[in-house]
Amino acid sequence: MTELIKPKMMNYHRQILVCVGDRCTQNGEGQALYDALKEKFEKAGLNKGDLRVKKTRATCFGSCKSGPLLCIQPDGIWYYDITADKLDRIIDEHLLNNQPVMEWVFHQR
Ligand code: FES
Repeated sequence: MTELIKPKMMNYHRQILVCVGDRCTQNGEGQALYDALKEKFEKAGLNKGDLRVKKTRATCFGSCKSGPLLCIQPDGIWYYDITADKLDRIIDEHLLNNQPVMEWVFHQR
């Protein structure tokens, strides 16, 4: 019988989920956006400390249009058609200054 090991997780302030599925982007744009997060978060200081943002990939949010799609939790903010430049603005305005960029939001809880 395999012994269960309790998983561990670092503390985080927010979580960003990026869809890397191929129904909302056809050429790997979601994965490329996810891959860009590490460097962008390090530069913004979001990779550690009180504002740390946990990065997560998802294969489908069930909203398969106009990706790349992002979700920021626990805020319940869902973004569409996000490029690397738009991500920079989301990092600055939403993740660092608590102001979602409403023009790219397609859903709020
Ligand atoms: S494949 Fe991205 S939301 Fe479905």
